[in-house]
Amino acid sequence: MYDINKVRADFPMLNNKKMQGKPLVFLDNASTTFKPQSVIDAMNKYYLEMNANSHRGDYDLCYNMDVEIQKSRETIARFINSETNEVVFTSGDTEALNLVAYGYALEFLKPGDQILISEIEHASNTLPWFRICELTGAKMCFVDIEDKKVTVEGVKKAFKENKNIKIVALAHTGNVLGYTINAKEIASIAHNNGAILVLDGAQSVPHIPVDFKDLDADFLTFSAHKMCGPTGIGCLVGKYELLQKMATFHTGGGMNVKFNKQGEVIPLDAPAKFEAGTLNLSAIMGFKAAVEYLNALGMDNIHKHDEELFKYAISKLEKSDKVIIYNKDSNNGIIAFNVKGVFAQDEATLLNSKGIAVRSGQHCAKMINDVVGDIATVRMSTYLYTSKEEIDIFVENLINGGDILDAYFLN
Ligand code: ALA
Repeated sequence: MYDINKVRADFPMLNNKKMQGKPLVFLDNASTTFKPQSVIDAMNKYYLEMNANSHRGDYDLCYNMDVEIQKSRETIARFINSETNEVVFTSGDTEALNLVAYGYALEFLKPGDQILISEIEHASNTLPWFRICELTGAKMCFVDIEDKKVTVEGVKKAFKENKNIKIVALAHTGNVLGYTINAKEIASIAHNNGAILVLDGAQSVPHIPVDFKDLDADFLTFSAHKMCGPTGIGCLVGKYELLQKMATFHTGGGMNVKFNKQGEVIPLDAPAKFEAGTLNLSAIMGFKAAVEYLNALGMDNIHKHDEELFKYAISKLEKSDKVIIYNKDSNNGIIAFNVKGVFAQDEATLLNSKGIAVRSGQHCAKMINDVVGDIATVRMSTYLYTSKEEIDIFVENLINGGDILDAYFLN
């Protein structure tokens, strides 16, 4: 394991930052994460030393950026075990999922084909598919949820009951309950039934070791900002033959070999054919630095850290009969809960008044209510820099922190 105090010293946001006049306890890491100094420095390096466009000039500064982009792509590919040319830069996980929807599904689905998702998906892994169904005449179907989880059995049953599933699109790790699916087995079931698997890795890639080749998913998507990297950058990782087959979603400069007055366009090979326009260059440099930071700590260690904090927090919360926990048997750094008799947003507001940042509501997963059995939850989520002391402050305030009137009137 790593030295948590040493890790925390790498993050400027953890240096005596206050919220509501109290030391900040940031427990909203499933939403976004803090950046270590090395990521901030890598981004600044672009603006301070390297500022030029990529793939567009015959001078050193431009060439140097081409090299930086390639290095970043290679670093990310090694991190998730894909080929370098299987990594497409996008603005984030949402754009990556939309790219699969509009580049692959819109191109290949026919009326009557089916797309299988679950009720616990984030909007970004739901709404693009709804739209594709409107545009193609395909139909949505849903995995039966067992004990709040997407299971291999549930997916098998879905294939028995729905004969035209062509795309399975699931969160690798759920953003509300934090359960990780058996993606390898589900990929195999999908392939045996002539479907592809799109894995939304927004909450898994930052927290557990993910091996794209071993899982045999067809597409994997994730965002840098949930793994200590910058906002505005993420990835679509796709099997190369699928990327080559796919249509482009964005077109413009940098993605084509040539075009003419007849409207004939010859795109470049993947990944370049998906990367029209000027790339988010400083963010690409920051993304590489973020992956290097995670590599230095080790993904197994990061996962162990999240898991240890999860168990520690659950063992303390369970002692109180005030708290309802919805995912006690999870093992990632996400706890979904409510305080009895307190609306989720009120509880989050109360915690804010104590300097504690959590998220409340439906967490962009607006079909999850029936699964959870409540209209809203509070979600606390840890990351590699979260300390046990922060968990202590969180639990103490949750259980003995007064009531909502404190938040609204006493501060
Ligand atoms: N997807 C992010 C979350 O779950 C924003 O909070």
